[in-house]
Amino acid sequence: MGKIAPSILSADFAQLAAEVDRVRPEADLLHVDVMDGHFVPNLTIGAPVVRCLRPRTDLYLDCHLMINNPGDLLDDFAKAGADSCTVHVELGDPRPLFDRMRAHGMRVGLVHNPETPLDAVLPYLEDIDLLLFMSVHPGFGGQAFIPSVLDKLRAARKIVDERGLAVELEIDGGINAQTAPLAAAAGADILVAGSAVFRTADPVAAARTIRDAAWPNG
Ligand code: DX5
Ligand code: ZN
Repeated sequence: MGKIAPSILSADFAQLAAEVDRVRPEADLLHVDVMDGHFVPNLTIGAPVVRCLRPRTDLYLDCHLMINNPGDLLDDFAKAGADSCTVHVELGDPRPLFDRMRAHGMRVGLVHNPETPLDAVLPYLEDIDLLLFMSVHPGFGGQAFIPSVLDKLRAARKIVDERGLAVELEIDGGINAQTAPLAAAAGADILVAGSAVFRTADPVAAARTIRDAAWPNG
């Protein structure tokens, strides 16, 4: 059975703790989208919000850093209670950031954009806990799934299994009950879903529908 990571990007920020409680029964992780208005053309939330969420939920806080200078903020995220930070490979050699995350006891994530080849992340597979596949161009919720990312996901699944690595494969963007089975069949372990969960009347039911569509046999 895979995992569902609702993205709070599509939640009501004015009542974030209540939104997290609303989705808690069907959430395995909570995906936190951090954007700086530079790496992506949108501005969201940062470590202070993670710090406020930390005592309000026992969910794993999966922080996706879409920011130009993650090195400047890793300490803040660690102190705020992030369980992992995921950094973009497009920024250059991520190894120094990995070392800092490990020193803080955080799990280590690496993410690549839809147009970035899988080859760009393969050198780091042995050093990470999460490999995130963007299946939309990062920056906004509610975009359409880019199906060509499934080819990269299938290739990564094969490599990870052949090498016997424990790295989890996570996919983010445009995941709903229609695309979730495609991502699961291609080998995803974790499905991030924002608008398909929070922009519904019943987020728990929506998350369960995505889970059942992805992994009908449990
Ligand atoms: C986009 C973010 C995603 C976003 C996904 O840059 O990284 O996590 O919340 O939203 P949906 O599920 O609506 O595509
Ligand atoms: Zn994300």
